[in-house]
Amino acid sequence: MRISHIKIKGFRNLKPLELKIDKEKSVFAFIGSNGHGKTNLLEAIYLCALSKSFRTRTNLDLINFDDDFCTIECSVEKEDPKILEVIVIREPAQKVLKVNGVKRSASEFIGLLKAVFFSPDDLSEMAFAPRLRRRYLDVLLSQLDHEYLNILMKYQESIRQRNALLKKIREGESKKDELEFWDNQLAELGLSITQKRADLIVQLQTLLKDLYKSISQTDDILTISYQSNIGEIADKDKLLLKITENIDRDIASGTTQLGPHRDDLQFSINSHDMVYFASRGEWRSLVLALKFAEIQLIEKQTGEKPVLLLDDVFSELDEIRQKYLFEAIKGTQTFITTTHKEFLDGLDVEKVVYEVMDGAVSS
Ligand SMILES: Nc1ncnc2c1ncn2[C@@H]1O[C@H](COP(=O)(O)OP(=O)(O)OP(=O)(O)O)[C@@H](O)[C@H]1O
Ligand SMILES: [Mg+2]
Repeated sequence: MRISHIKIKGFRNLKPLELKIDKEKSVFAFIGSNGHGKTNLLEAIYLCALSKSFRTRTNLDLINFDDDFCTIECSVEKEDPKILEVIVIREPAQKVLKVNGVKRSASEFIGLLKAVFFSPDDLSEMAFAPRLRRRYLDVLLSQLDHEYLNILMKYQESIRQRNALLKKIREGESKKDELEFWDNQLAELGLSITQKRADLIVQLQTLLKDLYKSISQTDDILTISYQSNIGEIADKDKLLLKITENIDRDIASGTTQLGPHRDDLQFSINSHDMVYFASRGEWRSLVLALKFAEIQLIEKQTGEKPVLLLDDVFSELDEIRQKYLFEAIKGTQTFITTTHKEFLDGLDVEKVVYEVMDGAVSS
């Protein structure tokens, strides 16, 4: 799939922008000094793919300080072309998603444009934060499997509702038996999420092992293992029982302790846990392998090549890995940001170069 047109207004520091994307080219580079709006541009495209930002959970942050709303529109060319639109309004605070001019829910919207985002921040995120390792699974699965996205959204809402209720019970404002409905939801949805994640990890395992070897140019064996918070439980009633056994602890803390919202991933090289033993270069190779696995799985399972968003990757990748990246992205529509034009010299395809200055994008 490819993007053929981008229209942005009122978004972060970007000036109103309309870009017609050249059909004949596949690499689009945005060059500019620090703080001029390069990442913002990729963030805008990402929003049209996943309806959420990769760097803020507060939608209002996306609106320019001096504006009341922002809109991003991406036209996507594929078998069944679509115009995707994200609108964020300050007052009353809301986010509206549209497909071909018609309002749609997040689950109807996500996945119409498929995108893989890669930034140097992925490195520290993968190395230090379980939440962001879970996000890798969720972002990938949401683009692969529509049912997963629906289940995940219901699950997240159930956790919110259950946690609110737990606090009310703790304050003596509600009764314990009101939890029954939510416990049931959690057990059912939580089990589906766990199973789907486990299946994905089996598929990732072989892919990642091969990718890691060729990216790191070693014979090191990378393994990924799923640290499921519910352990080996594979039966809804057993999970429900475990949830109810823990109810007093949940009430005391006002949070739900058991379930896939507490999952994690573990990466090892030659059986040594990367969190404790890996070098920065090894994390770099891992992150690159994860991104390529993402691209390959999306392409294999959906028949659609995702759009690639590469944010300032040159600062983190040495020449060998840059070369690998450039070789692998050939033929994929890629939006790439960098501070220095020379960084693109290794990329021997024809590219369209834009300059980003003070929020204005010009060719
Ligand atoms: N809601 C907003 N309204 C106006 N400006 C904003 C808003 N959110 C962020 N900005 C500004 O956008 C500017 C550009 O941010 P961006 O992250 O895109 O820069 P960049 O070109 O990627 O820089 P770097 O090379 O350092 O990564 C920042 O100065 C930031 O303060
Ligand atoms: Mg940036």
